[in-house]
Amino acid sequence: MILAGGQGTRLRPLTLARAKPVVPLLNRPFLAYQLALLRAHGVSDVILACSYRVDDVRAALGDGAELGVRLRYVVEGEPLGTGGGVRNAADLVSGTLFVLNGDILTDADLSAMRALHESRGSRTTIYLQPVPDPRQYGLVETAADGRLRAFREKPTADEEITTNTINAGIYLIDAPLLQRIPRDRASSIEREFFPALIADGIPCYGWCPTAYWRDIGNPAAYRAAQIDMLHGRAAMPLSAPGRPRDGSWLAGGGSVAPDAQIVAPSVVGAGAMLGPRCRVGPGAVVGDGARIGPDARVEGSVLWERVDVGAGAVLQDCVVGADARIGAHAHVGPEVALESGAVVPERATLTR
Ligand code: GDD
Ligand code: MG
Repeated sequence: MILAGGQGTRLRPLTLARAKPVVPLLNRPFLAYQLALLRAHGVSDVILACSYRVDDVRAALGDGAELGVRLRYVVEGEPLGTGGGVRNAADLVSGTLFVLNGDILTDADLSAMRALHESRGSRTTIYLQPVPDPRQYGLVETAADGRLRAFREKPTADEEITTNTINAGIYLIDAPLLQRIPRDRASSIEREFFPALIADGIPCYGWCPTAYWRDIGNPAAYRAAQIDMLHGRAAMPLSAPGRPRDGSWLAGGGSVAPDAQIVAPSVVGAGAMLGPRCRVGPGAVVGDGARIGPDARVEGSVLWERVDVGAGAVLQDCVVGADARIGAHAHVGPEVALESGAVVPERATLTR
């Protein structure tokens, strides 16, 4: 089950026009990578717990056949939170299920997680990740044998910051336990369900692999995840669309001027048009149908579909939503995120 119903507030303005679970990563909807990972570990029946902008999710993923999985959508009338969202779909599951936050990019070995769950007799296993600053996450304390001792979601008091090990947002849960979550009211799996399991002495364990991991839930992390993928830092079972060429991926169907430069590693989407003397990359993701004008430069930046970059414009380490227009000779600087349809005037300079 994938939790795919949050509003993606911290990823605004990108999520004003598209649900977070399907924002493009290297020109594929984000969840395609999670589904490929699940599939690589033998999971082919997936429930999407949706609420906000569910139509975006449906439009991007359909019934999952293209990705080799069977998708079912369970939609909350009112958002029910991470606990209520899982409970709302619980009648469709039995046995042991993976539950994933729909904004986690990882290459973790989920088969090893499952092996640990089974060998320990664990009833709920949480994938744990050490991070430099744990405060924006769920903190998880474990005993020497890995058994969970405490779960504290986004604690604020300094004395509660007792560990830098956090909840990575992937769980294995014995389905009957889900009956503990109240039906038909909003609740938090992190603030209510996990702490109660620990308090009631139910055997729950942490699993702490060495793996690539990132929450893509804000624009800087969303961009960084793609730079990481371009540099091969995550061993994903799914690559960027297109043919590999000289360290980049080109989907083709567009046009590249003979003196345009594509600097690896980059991704150029289907039908993109690259004008004379432009330079795309390193670290550029050009969306399907985008147009890069003459002498423009796009580096370390992610452009969604049909973005139009004017002549001589410079895009550095930024993210640009679909159908945006960047005027000629404009500059868009590091960590700027432009919403879909944005219009940047000629010669404007945007910084954060
Ligand atoms: N169906 C449904 N309904 N899904 C929801 C709802 C809801 O009402 N609210 C949030 N979600 C989904 C989001 O779409 C996301 O995929 C997931 O639940 C987690 O929500 P986030 O808003 O991304 O939470 P977070 O990043 O602040 O914290 C969570 O992830 C951290 C790891 O990145 C927590 O699980 C933390 O404990 C964890 O450390
Ligand atoms: Mg998140």
